[in-house]
Amino acid sequence: MPSIVIVGAQWGDEGKGKVVDLLAENARVVARFQGGNNAGHTIVRGEETFKFHLIPSGILYPGTTCVIGNGVVIDPSVLTAEIDGLRDRGVDVSNLRVSANAHLIMPYHLMLDRAHEAKLGKLEIGTTKRGIGPCYSDKAARLGIRVQDLLDEKILKQKIMAAMEPKRLMLRPFERDPALDLHAMTEQYMLHGNRLEQHIADTASLLHRALDDGELVIFEGAQAALLDIDHGTYPFVTSSNPVAGAACVGAGVGPRDITEVWGVAKAYATRVGAGPFPTELDDDLGEDLRQRGGEFGTTTGRPRRTGWLDLVSLRYAARINGMTALAITKLDVLGGRDTIRVCTSYRTDDGAELDTFPYHQTVLHHATPIYTDLPGWQEDITGCRAVEDLPANALAYLRFIEEHVGVPIALIGVGPARDQIVWLGERSPLLAA
Ligand code: GDP
Ligand code: IMO
Ligand code: MG
Repeated sequence: MPSIVIVGAQWGDEGKGKVVDLLAENARVVARFQGGNNAGHTIVRGEETFKFHLIPSGILYPGTTCVIGNGVVIDPSVLTAEIDGLRDRGVDVSNLRVSANAHLIMPYHLMLDRAHEAKLGKLEIGTTKRGIGPCYSDKAARLGIRVQDLLDEKILKQKIMAAMEPKRLMLRPFERDPALDLHAMTEQYMLHGNRLEQHIADTASLLHRALDDGELVIFEGAQAALLDIDHGTYPFVTSSNPVAGAACVGAGVGPRDITEVWGVAKAYATRVGAGPFPTELDDDLGEDLRQRGGEFGTTTGRPRRTGWLDLVSLRYAARINGMTALAITKLDVLGGRDTIRVCTSYRTDDGAELDTFPYHQTVLHHATPIYTDLPGWQEDITGCRAVEDLPANALAYLRFIEEHVGVPIALIGVGPARDQIVWLGERSPLLAA
């Protein structure tokens, strides 16, 4: 059985949760490997909707072990609330395993995230304000608090003291906040430790066993290629690497353990937060896409910026991830239009045409999209379940994407529900008949 990494191919919210849920039924393990509760992954099961921020999207299958890997940053109050919420809905969470090496988001990380953004003013990144950036900063500075530290009060207190010391100045406006009191914080986090202890495990070894047994393992990416701290539109990015290569680092496996990489992209493009977005539609058409696609953030509720599909950035995402297949979601949202535009190259400031993603931020900021207009379709495709059901123009649009990206499309989404998919090629061998 192969192992497969599912990653976002645009700026996030492509429908990774739905794709992971689809493939997870036969998986022994589903593992998150980066990001934190900045993610919001939606799964629609009949009348029920689940939104996961930290817990992997395989949790609805009792036979699947869900791992929160070492590369994830965990806000323990969010994780415990998510566990409680699932239990209340009758979901068995006993198969959840949390890496002892994962870093913890602390109350001061939340405050610093807000303070940094306020300081940037008009230049703000538009973060989710979940403390992600400051937590990864502390990890790199070797001032992080890890899950295993929750099991020893003395060590925990010492580490919190050491971590807070260099932040005194920045934290001064919050000094009266009771959440910053050393003793209260230690006590609070020890309580979280008590709650989470049963889930703490050597998750890398658990993954090695599943891989060695030849079982299906899914690595669930959060965020997306263009939000990658190295390869994305820096500084308007998140503070981790959402690309497929990070699955190895963030879960503790080697590159040869990965056999497939699936990139998830919408049939158009969206972005939450600030930063360049060449195909953005700042007009009625963009508003129409937002309303029809329900483009409001899963985590923060913010309206998402919307635009046409950008094949320059999608080609780039395919390359840096080493994608073996694409999943194109929300094709249904594009129905009812005479024309669908798709960006195939950029025009730079000096008039040159660029068909590769520019490495220089200034070039990207000034890039204007060059579009190809394709004929749309009027039919409602939400009921389509086979390639033959799709309007010819919808299929032509998908073939155009495949040709320009150079990666085959495995499946498309025609609605939010689990069964609203069409397999484009052969039905994946990753799934049971
Ligand atoms: P993720 O962060 O990549 O998991 O994506 P989100 O859950 O944040 O956002 C995707 C949204 O699109 C969710 O509301 C999904 O229920 C919805 N969705 C996923 N696939 C489709 C699709 O094919 N069609 C439509 N209309 N909605 C979809
Ligand atoms: P999923 O996994 C969309 C964006 C934020 C902001 C930038 C940095 O649901 O696709 P951060 O809080 O990470 O420091 O914010 O990244 N962002 C996302 N946008 N989907 C996400 O996750 C995101 N996670 C972070 O809006 O622009
Ligand atoms: Mg999301």
